[in-house]
Amino acid sequence: MDTLVIEGGKKLSGSIQVGGAKNAALPILFAAILTGGRCRLTNVPDLADIDTTVRLLTGMGVTGTHRRAEHTVELQAARLSNFEASYDLVRTMRASVLVLGPTLARFGEARVSLPGGCSIGARPVNLHLMALEKMGAQITLEGGYINAKASRLRGADITFDQISVGATENSLMAASLASGRTILRNCALEPEIIDLARFLKVLGAKIQGEGTPVITIEGVDALGGGDYSIIPDRIEAGTYLAAAAVTGGEIHLPGVSPELLGAVLDKLRECGAELAADSKGIRLSATGRQLKAVDISTLPFPGFPTDMQAQFMALMAATSGTSIITENIFENRFMHVAELMRLGADITVQGATAIVRGPAKLTGATVMATDLRASACLVLAGLAAEGITTVRRVYHLDRGYEKMETKLKACGATINRQVE
Ligand code: UD1
Repeated sequence: MDTLVIEGGKKLSGSIQVGGAKNAALPILFAAILTGGRCRLTNVPDLADIDTTVRLLTGMGVTGTHRRAEHTVELQAARLSNFEASYDLVRTMRASVLVLGPTLARFGEARVSLPGGCSIGARPVNLHLMALEKMGAQITLEGGYINAKASRLRGADITFDQISVGATENSLMAASLASGRTILRNCALEPEIIDLARFLKVLGAKIQGEGTPVITIEGVDALGGGDYSIIPDRIEAGTYLAAAAVTGGEIHLPGVSPELLGAVLDKLRECGAELAADSKGIRLSATGRQLKAVDISTLPFPGFPTDMQAQFMALMAATSGTSIITENIFENRFMHVAELMRLGADITVQGATAIVRGPAKLTGATVMATDLRASACLVLAGLAAEGITTVRRVYHLDRGYEKMETKLKACGATINRQVE
């Protein structure tokens, strides 16, 4: 298992090229199941989760090539040899549940392992199943698997009683091939959903309203192939902005639109960081500035993203003042707290709220990554800490950040991977 060894206390300074969004690329890869045409996807990040998805798809009979260095994936689902996402794959990547909607819509059956809980919470899939049932699917749960069947899905009027990114995506894909009109209400508004809808439209889907709470889809009989480039990863971008802020440095992220990061940029400004953002990218400078604590409360987009909560907590630990951080999306997303405290952070957790008292004098220690964003949080804290921080179980980080240590090194950080 690889570890990252960080010698903290260096101010970041430089420019980082942010990769394609993992959370846009995953549903778009699964959407290739909807068509027999060839799909060519560019700006696909080179990440473990992308490998897992390509493996899952090729295991189902999709043909394709994955050119990692070129960030390109080509897929063609002319036919499938099986309709199953097995426990072994779903266990390592919950997004595999996105196999369900497109496979069922195109082939009339799908079998997907129930994801079960994960370290950040129970994460049920009831909303995904409810929407597909409303479209006429017969769903049974047996032996830990979701078995879904339908001769042809039909359009339906569906209201989600809770906002879910994944359920919106699964339903959007399924409705694209259903007969008639589907109206999805109380949809998630995340930019990754807009990206998926745009890709589906390239394939010939008839979708309106993506990025708003109500999405209307006129189902079509078949979709074609197409080329598509994935949007930049707003969470990777936000992580590097927070990294520059926590080290009192500066950073430029070319090509990242500020619209992707509204709430995160607002909070960084409120902290006292200097930000310049335009259509060409985002610049942050914390050089010579005394940042101050701010409160955050995670919410669905356009609110503050839960996927940035842990990284912001590292920043708040090192910043002067008390910050109240409330996690509203996942019930157990404070696993990083105990590890941050090993580095010297002063944090009290009460239910869904963490009270972070700063500035703590962070000092290097060995810490353990527990999930993807928690790992990023520990790297940020290590960059700010005095002395050596060793982050273990870096495989979590590799699920969502491409070459993080190389990118940080190029901006002056001392960070090295040790392969064990
Ligand atoms: C996606 C992102 C993940 C991010 C999350 C919230 C991907 C691959 N992952 O995950 O990085 O942290 O959005 O922004 O895009 N829920 C239910 N029933 C359901 C579905 C969800 O109760 O059927 C609950 C979840 O337990 C959670 C909340 O709804 O409390 C939001 O989850 P959801 O938006 O579905 O997250 P994901 O799509 O799994």
